[in-house]
Amino acid sequence: MLSEKAKPKDPAVLFDLRMATNLTLIKDLFLTLYPKGKETGHFKKLLKTLRKLHKSRPDELKAQDIKRLHSGNWYQSEQLVGMQLYVDRFAKDLKTLEGKLGYFEALGVNFLHLMPLTKRPQGENDGGYAVNDYVGIDKRFGTKKDLLKLSSTLREKNMYVMLDFVVNHTSDEFPWAEKAKSGDRKYQEFYYTYAERDIPDLFEQTLPEVFPETSPGNFTFIPEMQRWVMTVFNSYQWDLNYTNPEVFLAMLENLVKLVNLGVDVVRFDALAFLWKKIGTISQNLPEAHTLISLFRMCLQVVAPGSILLAEAIVSPTDILKYFGEGLRKGNECEIAYNASLMAILWNSIATKKAALLHKSLTNVASKPEDCTWVNYIRCHDDIGLGLDDRFITELGWNPQGHRKFLLDYYCQQLNWSPAKGLPFMYNPKTGDGRITGSAASLLGLERGLEGNDQEMVQKAIDKIILLHSIVLSFGGIPMIYAGDEIGTLNDYTFLNETDKKEDSRWVNRPKQDWALVKKLDDMQHPQSVIYNRIKSLIALRKRLPVLADRSNPLIHHCGNEHLFVFERKGNEKSLLIICNFDESEQVFDSGFLERLGYLKDQSFYEIIGGAHIRLNSGFISIAPYGMLWIQRP
Ligand code: GLC
Repeated sequence: MLSEKAKPKDPAVLFDLRMATNLTLIKDLFLTLYPKGKETGHFKKLLKTLRKLHKSRPDELKAQDIKRLHSGNWYQSEQLVGMQLYVDRFAKDLKTLEGKLGYFEALGVNFLHLMPLTKRPQGENDGGYAVNDYVGIDKRFGTKKDLLKLSSTLREKNMYVMLDFVVNHTSDEFPWAEKAKSGDRKYQEFYYTYAERDIPDLFEQTLPEVFPETSPGNFTFIPEMQRWVMTVFNSYQWDLNYTNPEVFLAMLENLVKLVNLGVDVVRFDALAFLWKKIGTISQNLPEAHTLISLFRMCLQVVAPGSILLAEAIVSPTDILKYFGEGLRKGNECEIAYNASLMAILWNSIATKKAALLHKSLTNVASKPEDCTWVNYIRCHDDIGLGLDDRFITELGWNPQGHRKFLLDYYCQQLNWSPAKGLPFMYNPKTGDGRITGSAASLLGLERGLEGNDQEMVQKAIDKIILLHSIVLSFGGIPMIYAGDEIGTLNDYTFLNETDKKEDSRWVNRPKQDWALVKKLDDMQHPQSVIYNRIKSLIALRKRLPVLADRSNPLIHHCGNEHLFVFERKGNEKSLLIICNFDESEQVFDSGFLERLGYLKDQSFYEIIGGAHIRLNSGFISIAPYGMLWIQRP
C-alpha cells in the first residue's frame, strides 16, 4: 500500500493509471459488442475519445474524483437522504431552487434528484424524458450557467445531485432524428429504421407494450423518411440503435458532458431496454449488461467520482444483475432502485400482512458489497405490480386474482378501501395494469380529509410514517418524493391539460405547497405531524452509523404475519426493526427478542421513543401501523 505522500496526485498520471488498469476489460467489453469486422477503427477512436473527454473534465471535478477514490463508498453512508423533484413544480427554476436549499437542510435532505432539465419538444414530451439535447438546458429552468452555479453551491454544502441520462431513446426532434427524417442514411442507422414491415412484424411477435393505452405497438411510421422506426415507449421517443458503435461513441460523449456539469449520480433511464433482439422481449439482454458495463468502465476512467444508478423496474432477480455479475460484479451500476421493495410495501399495506415481503426478501440473493439501493415508496412513475407469481402462489393466492385485488384496492373499486388512486395503462387484452396516485392519497389521507374521518386520517398518517421509516432504515439511500414529506394529495389539474390528460402519472406530479409549508409549526394540521415525524426519523437515521449500507439487512420472522422484521448489523450496536402492517395492535413473543439478544434484565431499548421498555408479560405489543427500532444492549 502506498503512503499518502507517495500516491500520485497529478490527474493526468492518474488517468493513465486508470486507463492501464481497465484497458483489457474495456477492450473485451467493446469487442464483445462490436467484433472485428463490425468495428472498423472504432476501438482506436474510443481510446482517443477517452483521453479527450478526460481533458475536458473541469479541474475542480478532477480533484473531487481523486478525493472520492480515496475516501471509500460515500454513497453507502447513513448521512445521505435524498429527495426527487421537478424543478419547475417544486420551485420555479434553477435559480429559485437554489433559494430553497434551506428547506432541504432543515429537513435533513442532502441528495437531490432533479427531474429532466434539458430541451424537449413543446407539447407531449413524457415529462422531459423525450430529449432534444443531452446537455442544453430548457429555458423554463434557466441556463447551463444556473445549473453549474447550483451544482457548485451543492458541492460547497456537501450535498449531492443526480440527473437523468435518457440512454435508451431520443425525441423525434433530436438532431440525429431530424437528419434521419431528411433521408441521411448515417443517422437512420442511429435508430432502428426499416422501409418494410417484415422486421418490425418479427419484433412485434415478442415485444411487450410499455404504454399500451397511449402508444400501442413498438414501431411508428415516419412519412418524411417513408420508414418505420422503433418506438418502444411513446411514438415520439425513438430507440437508439446500440448495435452501431457510432451510437455508443456519441452517447459516451453526451454522458461525460452531463457529468461534467457537476453531476454526482447519473440515473441511467430505462436501461433494461438498451439492446433489442428479434424473438425476445428485448429487456435485460446480456448485451445490454455488456453495454452498461462498457459505459461504466469508460466513466470510471474519465470521471471516477460520478457513479450510475440503474432505473431497471424489472423482476427482483433481474434488478440484481444491474450491479454486475460474475467477472463484472461491481462493474455495472453502483446503485439500483429497489423497485421490488417498493412494490411489496404497497402489497403489504393492502393485505395488512408482511408475508410476501418476508418471502420475497429471503428468497432473493443479496446485492454485492460495494453497491447500494435507492429505497423509495413513491416516485413520478406508476407503481408496477412486479411481484413474483411463484411467491404469491406459495402464499395460497392466485397471482392474477391477487393483482386484480391490488388494482381494485388502490384504484377506487372497493368501497371499503381508503385508497384513492388511479389506474395507469390498464391493458384489457392482458388484464395487466399499474397504479398511480400520491402516497398520501393512496394511504387514505385524501378520503379521510374529505369525509372528515379522524380515524382514517390518523391511520393514513401512521401508514405514511411507517413506510418512510422502512426506506430510511432498510439499507441504501432513502429517496423521498417531494411533497410526500408534507402529505401532498393527488393533483387532478392534469386532466385539463391537453398534453398531459392521457397520462395519469401526472396526478402525482404536484406543485410544492409553500403556503402549507409556512404552517408546519402548527401541529393541528396532519401535514405538520407528517413533516415533523419524518424530520425526526431522518435526524435519527443520521445518528445511527449502523444504518450505513455496509451489509445486507437480515430478515427475521417473529411468528406474527402482520409484522415485518429486519435487523441491521455493523461494527456498531445492531438495530432490530419491527413494523406492524395491521390496523390493530399486534403482539409477539418476547422470547423472540431474547433469542436475538435484544433483551436485557427483562427490558429493551426502543430508540425512536428513546425509552427503556420493561416487560410485564411474555408478550410485546406494537401499535397499529406502528414500529419499534430496538437497539441491542
Ligand atoms: C423511465 C422514466 C419514465 C419514462 C420512461 C421513458 O422509466 O422514469 O418516466 O416515461 O423512462 O423514458
